[in-house]
This record gives sequence, C-alpha cells and structure tokens, in this order.
Amino acid sequence: MTVTISRTQRRFVLPEDRLPTHYVNIAADLPVPLPPPLHPGTREPIGPEMLAPLFPMALIRQEVSPDALVEIPEEVREAYRSYRPTPLQRATGLERALDTPAHIYFKNESVSPAGSHKLNTAIPQAFYNREEGITRLATETGAGQWGSALAIAGSMFGLDVDVFMVRVSYDQKPYRRSFIQSFGADVVASPSDRTNAGRAILAAEPDSTGSLGIAISEAVEVAATNDDVKYSLGSVLNHVLLHQTVIGQEAMAQMEMAGEAPDIVIGCAGGGSNFAGIAFPFLRDRLRGSSSTRFLAVEPASCPSLTQGEYRYDFGDTAGTTPLLKMHTLGNDFRPAPIHAGGLRYHGMAPLISHLYDLGLLEARAYPQTTCFDAALQFARAEGIVPAPESSHAIRAAIDEALDAREAGEQRVILFNLSGHGLFDMAAYDAYLAGTLTD
Ligand SMILES: Cc1ncc(COP(=O)(O)O)c(C=O)c1O
Repeated sequence: MTVTISRTQRRFVLPEDRLPTHYVNIAADLPVPLPPPLHPGTREPIGPEMLAPLFPMALIRQEVSPDALVEIPEEVREAYRSYRPTPLQRATGLERALDTPAHIYFKNESVSPAGSHKLNTAIPQAFYNREEGITRLATETGAGQWGSALAIAGSMFGLDVDVFMVRVSYDQKPYRRSFIQSFGADVVASPSDRTNAGRAILAAEPDSTGSLGIAISEAVEVAATNDDVKYSLGSVLNHVLLHQTVIGQEAMAQMEMAGEAPDIVIGCAGGGSNFAGIAFPFLRDRLRGSSSTRFLAVEPASCPSLTQGEYRYDFGDTAGTTPLLKMHTLGNDFRPAPIHAGGLRYHGMAPLISHLYDLGLLEARAYPQTTCFDAALQFARAEGIVPAPESSHAIRAAIDEALDAREAGEQRVILFNLSGHGLFDMAAYDAYLAGTLTD
C-alpha cells in the first residue's frame, strides 16, 4: 500500500532583488491626520528646529513626510541584504499541535544578526547620521535588542554608540551587554550617575530597576548637551515605524507566494514598531478598500498602554524633556513591573498606533507574562525556535486565534511577526521552567 503524504510548503523565501525599494508611509493614507507633537511650554506644534539637536535633518523630514512612499537609499539596501529579505514561515508544527484548521504564518525577524527586527531601523538611522557628519549616538535599550542593533549599525557605519540599558535587563541579561560591547559600543545600567536625570532618580530611589522612560531621559540629555552626539530611538516615532515597513512589504509578497491572504495580522507592541512594520503595508490595502484584514496589537498586562492607558498628550520620557506626543499612555511616571519582556515595558504607545487604535482600525489585547511563556514553549517545541519574551505575546494571541478558529470550525489565515529570538533570555526561561515566574 502506498501512503501519500501531502507536502505543505513551510518557508517562503524572496530573492535579494525583491528587497523593498521604498518604505510605506501610512501617514499618507490616514482618514484623519495625525495630531502633531507639541512644545511642552507653549503647547503649539513644534517645528523641525526643536528636533534638530536630537536627530539629523533627513530623519526629521521622514518624521513629517506626507509622501506615501519614501525611497530607501542604496547603501541602506546594501546593508539590509546581509540578512533580508527574511523568510516567511508556515507554522505547520504548531497547527498540528493545536489541531486547528487555521493556517498560521510567521514572519521571521529573529534571523537578523541582532536577533530582532530592530536592525531594520538601526541601519538607516546610523546611515543618515553618518551622512550628516555625526560621529556618536546615544540611545536607550530595554531588553538589549535595540542596543544590540544600534551597536551593529554603528560598527557598520563607523559611529560610536553609548547605550543606557534599563537596570533590570542589565542584571538579567549579562550576555546582551557583552554582545553590545562586542561591537565596540559603550553600555551602562540606567538609571546611571552619568546624567542629571539618572542622578535624580537614584537619589530618590537608589534601588530603581529603571524603565525605558528613564533610559530615554538619560540618552536625550547626553545628546542635547553634547554638540557631537545625536539621539537615536528604537521605537515610537514615525520614522522608526516607517523603516520597519520592510517587514510587511516582504510578508505581502510572501503571502502571495503562499497563495493566501491573512484574515488577521498580529504583533506584540512595546513602543509599536514591529507591529507597525508588519501591519502598515497590509493596513494600507484595508484603508484603500481592497481588504478586510483585522489587526491585533498585543501588550503585557503589567504595562497595558493601549488597552488601559488614556489617549492624551504626554512626554515620551520620564524626566519630561521630550516634546509632547499624543498617545495612549499610562503616565510618564508609570513604573512597569520588572517583567522579562523588557522591550514592552514602555509607558506609552507610538502616536501612529494610538491614533489608528482611536479610529477603531486596530484591536488590542493584554496578557500576563506566564501565559505568554506557556505559548512560547508550545511554539518552541512545535517549531524549534525559542522566541523573545516580547514576541511570545504575539504567539499567545496567534494560538488563541487558532483555537478560536477550531471552536468555530473556520479555516482562518493568521499571520504574526516573530520579532526576535530568545537566546539571550534563557534566565527568563529558567525561571519559568523552575516555576518561579510570576505575573
Ligand atoms: C524582540 C522584540 N520585540 C518587540 C519589541 C518591542 O518594541 P516595538 O514595539 O517597538 O516593536 C522589542 C523591544 O525591544 C523587542 O526587543
């Protein structure tokens, strides 16, 4: 007797020449314009001159660009080609484990040399700074993924990089520190004694575990007080979300190769950049009326800015030194619990994501961390990849959607972004496996 095994294609790989040539600027398709950033003193919209001490002009222009497409410079595309296009994968192992009729796909950003999507914006940010003669960048990092990405991009484009790493991650992830240092960057635990912002926090709270908001204050202060240093942010701002749209554009071409279109697109959301990256190119089609795809942003229950935060103007940092951004926020003094998904411990959400959520174009959900680790190990055992704790939030939601499809007897197509791997997060997995992890 012959047994016929039907072969399902698992990986969808684009050749290098299919790397996107442009970034997708969702601002051009918004049904209602994005509320502008405001000056904290006058509460008037700010002009480019207020951002100029922090960012190079090319990035400021992208921040406010009205163009639907923004060209990617050839030198940036060349750097992307070291790891892009990334594969789209069909999670057939997970589908079988869940016994679901749903088709589950994930875009695998964990294959980047930094281990996450963050290199997609670190590369153009380093490039544009170098083009304008900058030699040093200051930044924050939560989980260490962004610091790793900027350290790599800095070494590619010959820039020095100073990283303020949130204290709890600095202690939880010593090898992320070494990774960052391997590329020649300087890394210090935040709050630190190097800045007024850090010293003020330490004076009030010597054992502070830090937060992204505090680390941002420190990095912004260094850039604002040193002429030769610019600031670089790994999420939240329009230009960062713009750069990440290479993810979704590739995923659209790869879903076409698979002969399917997603019913739902899922991403975890800290500041919102990987979610925007996978979602915005698909969302543009929905805004133009050619699809009815749903979009789901997933956040931690301990830092639920979209699902519980207020939609109002707030500072992007703890010390209150940035322009005011209209966003879903828990308040710039909110101190999230020291969960292992360090990249999701941010008090606010990107203005673009917040605006789209407010317009009812996106959905959001929050999960406690243990249920995300349950999902992470289920995924690891079915697919052979240990996900970043941040990405496990998207996996939790994808699994729940697939189980829901099973209940409903529906053949749903689910796409999520695997924003990073968790190979530097094994202390978190240790705690989970030892049963000591709490929500
Ligand atoms: C792997 C990973 N996923 C997601 C995030 C969250 O950031 P964003 O919402 O900007 O994608 C981070 C942030 O550090 C991260 O490292």
